[in-house]
Amino acid sequence: MATYDLVVIGTGPGGYVCAVRAAQLGMKVAVVEKNATLGGTCLNVGCMPSKALLHASEMFEEAGHSFAKMGVSVSSPKLDLPAMMNFKQQGIDGNVKGVEFLMKKNKIDVLKGTGKILGTGKVEVSADGKSQVVETKNIVIATGSDIARLKGIDIDEKRIVSSTGALSLEKVPGRLLVIGAGVIGLELGSVWRRLGSEVMVVEFLDRILPGMDGEIAKQFQRILEKQGFAFKLASKVTGVEANSKALLAKIEPASGGAAETIEADVVLVCIGRTPYTDGLGLKEAGIALDPRGRVQIDPHFATSLKGVYAIGDVVAGPMLAHKAEDEGVAVAEIIAGQAGHVNYDVIPGVVYTTPEVSSVGKTEEELKQAGTAYTVGKFPFTANGRSKVNQTTDGFVKILADAKTDRLLGVHIIGREAGEMIHEACVLMEFGGSAEDLARTCHAHPTRSEAVKEAALAVGKRAIHM
Ligand code: FAD
Ligand code: NAI
Repeated sequence: MATYDLVVIGTGPGGYVCAVRAAQLGMKVAVVEKNATLGGTCLNVGCMPSKALLHASEMFEEAGHSFAKMGVSVSSPKLDLPAMMNFKQQGIDGNVKGVEFLMKKNKIDVLKGTGKILGTGKVEVSADGKSQVVETKNIVIATGSDIARLKGIDIDEKRIVSSTGALSLEKVPGRLLVIGAGVIGLELGSVWRRLGSEVMVVEFLDRILPGMDGEIAKQFQRILEKQGFAFKLASKVTGVEANSKALLAKIEPASGGAAETIEADVVLVCIGRTPYTDGLGLKEAGIALDPRGRVQIDPHFATSLKGVYAIGDVVAGPMLAHKAEDEGVAVAEIIAGQAGHVNYDVIPGVVYTTPEVSSVGKTEEELKQAGTAYTVGKFPFTANGRSKVNQTTDGFVKILADAKTDRLLGVHIIGREAGEMIHEACVLMEFGGSAEDLARTCHAHPTRSEAVKEAALAVGKRAIHM
């Protein structure tokens, strides 16, 4: 029986990063993974394949619509979907191999199979009808999440798909109906719209991207509509019937009322994700869940069973890869006796569409609700030189600062490369910096990031280029 300092169950961004950090700190570590490949949702059916398809489909759209105006004359691009899927797969394979390399480099044992917690210090690993029990001083649960399903709508991953099926469609659907205007719906909706689908998004709430700043979400919706997205807000899909030619989706107002039927070729269900704890034996082991089925943890990631911790999508908080990674590092450090910590006030969120949407800290709605006095500085990309010459002027930067102290409370950006631009705000917020600090920091010219500086100047009503 092997004996470890730490066994991590799950090798998504939470699990594998935790394992690497623990190994760096001198622990003898094993990871348990039931999937054929390492890397979890993120590498196999999440962040990475979706970003590969977003990149490839954006290039396709640019070649078709933007090259000519820059004087680059090419014949109309043709879609080779199998080749695009192959491009996606190469990206997945490269990243999965990268995780395998990290396991070897850090001398981490990879135990293939389903992990079950038998009690403090004991994990059973089962695969192909065989099982072994490993002993360990500590256990970290990093088993991630699974797609949330809608009652009465059966996902077959061919015509009625989750994100997993939508990442591998064999042909471009003529009509794609997306249920849920969250991150997955807008990212994968963008992919298939660029490749030729008519996309309609049905959303239960009266707005898209709940949780993001309302003003940003409104402008985002307008831009997506200009691109060809159709939205049906405050609506719910109550059922989908299939005949040999089409899917017939029944849609009702969210508050109830007369239903209408909308035809589609593919329906994408993306209404959120649920924590994944199947097969872990939590109940028998006495590990408590919260009312939403997430593993319950204390501020130090400890579960109700001694020596067992949990991180990532399976616990509370935003279901984001970088949140899982940071928790992985923090819990490894805590187990090693250090002061591991995650600052949940500074976790950026990015939607990788065109334009991108990025956000960190509080939204204007949250500040209003909390009764916090704040000032706002905004700067549009139409007034940013680099954006003007590149003719990519959609969007703006919005900065929210404390009215009394000028401390940065939230930054929200809609525009190309917004996902890269958010990080200067994250660093500043980690240091408790002010809008004035940002406004006085020299920014290279000509960059889109100058719009961030200008928005910070606008907090003090002294933007230069507006
Ligand atoms: P996971 O990545 O889900 O990994 C859990 C692993 O545990 C899996 O490999 C699973 O097989 C394994 N496992 C489960 N139970 C057991 C068991 N009993 N024994 C052994 N192994 C087990 N986040 C972002 O930050 N940016 C993005 O751009 C982004 N894009 C996304 C796109 C899509 C389409 C989806 C679906 C998600 C996306 N996410 C994105 C979310 C991101 O994928 C998750 O937040 C992240 O993967 C969570 O990491 P994790 O380590 O907690 O779990
Ligand atoms: P989500 O939580 O982002 O959005 C789900 C949407 O569906 C919400 O707008 C919700 O109001 C709506 N909804 C819920 N029930 C509905 C119903 N019955 N009918 C119509 N609409 C309904 O979830 P999504 O898009 O499935 O993504 C899951 C998770 O994956 C998210 O938590 C996100 O953090 C993560 N993710 C992150 C990405 C990124 O960081 N770029 C990309 C993709 C996913």
